[in-house]
Amino acid sequence: MDQLTQTARALVAPGKGILAADESVGTMSKRLEAAGVPASPQTRRAYRDLLVTTPGLDESISGVILCDETLRQSVAGGTPFPRACAARGIVPGIKVDTGAKPLAGNPEESVTEGLDGLRERLEEYAEMGAGFAKWRGVITIGDGQPTRSCLVANAHALARYAALCQEAGIVPIVEPEVLMDGDHGIERCAAVSADALHTVFAQLIEQGVALESMVLKPNMIVAGKGCCEQPSAAQVAAATVGVLRRTVPAAVPGVAFLSGGQPPAVATVHLQAMHALGPQPWVLTFSFGRALVDPALAAWRGEPGNVELAQDTLAHRARCNAAAAAGRYSDELEPAAA
Ligand code: 13P
Repeated sequence: MDQLTQTARALVAPGKGILAADESVGTMSKRLEAAGVPASPQTRRAYRDLLVTTPGLDESISGVILCDETLRQSVAGGTPFPRACAARGIVPGIKVDTGAKPLAGNPEESVTEGLDGLRERLEEYAEMGAGFAKWRGVITIGDGQPTRSCLVANAHALARYAALCQEAGIVPIVEPEVLMDGDHGIERCAAVSADALHTVFAQLIEQGVALESMVLKPNMIVAGKGCCEQPSAAQVAAATVGVLRRTVPAAVPGVAFLSGGQPPAVATVHLQAMHALGPQPWVLTFSFGRALVDPALAAWRGEPGNVELAQDTLAHRARCNAAAAAGRYSDELEPAAA
């Protein structure tokens, strides 16, 4: 098996998932400030240091996605972040897109940018130790949205990015996110997500991407946040697995879900409910951002004295999600957090 496929499989190793700690400088700064922590390169570094040095993290986390700023910083003691992760058996990854920008012709929708100069940036990231990368396309559900042009533009960019990653020896995480914003029902999310995934895989194949050497990071199939009829976990699981089975080739080793704004324990319950449906062609796991780190950030509040509590909080959510990824989660695991 080649190195890329080995890394892709390691990222979705049974009972492990990915920690998405790659918020851009702007997004991270807002989240720190909302938690009462002044935003600066130093506080962003201290927060990511806390996350990646959490004791026991390697038992549930296979890879950590970092942003450019963090990849160039060091943990306390001076070891660069990518080396500190790798030393614990956690694959360091890097977010390489440069953000979602208004789509020409349909400015209420977005297309993710970052292809210019990407080959050179990937070369540097590979030298710095990145084993995988991430690119997120954003799809909004609304009146007349998504348009075909939005789906195709984002899928094309994801495929061009994925091909460049594989050329550089880096595993691409391909993330087409259908947002939870809106009052649409679960059926609409299912239809749009199926269309988005179908378009993405058509483009991946057009661009010659090796499906064996990538990881898909989709949204779960849920109702819009503003929808008055919220589906049960069993309905979310059945809809999500159904859409994936109709659109994702079995050659893809793993599907690692984003959490997308679901409350942390709800995202865990949804992942567990998918495993209750039995084996699937691909590994089903998590690549959560907010659903893993929000409770830890709230516990930390920038206080050195709270680091241990914050790390325990992260380790707990990581363990719960790893249990769900192995089909062994139940709410009996939750009181340990208290
Ligand atoms: P959330 O789990 O917070 O949606 O973040 C995952 C991610 O990496 C978004 O790109």
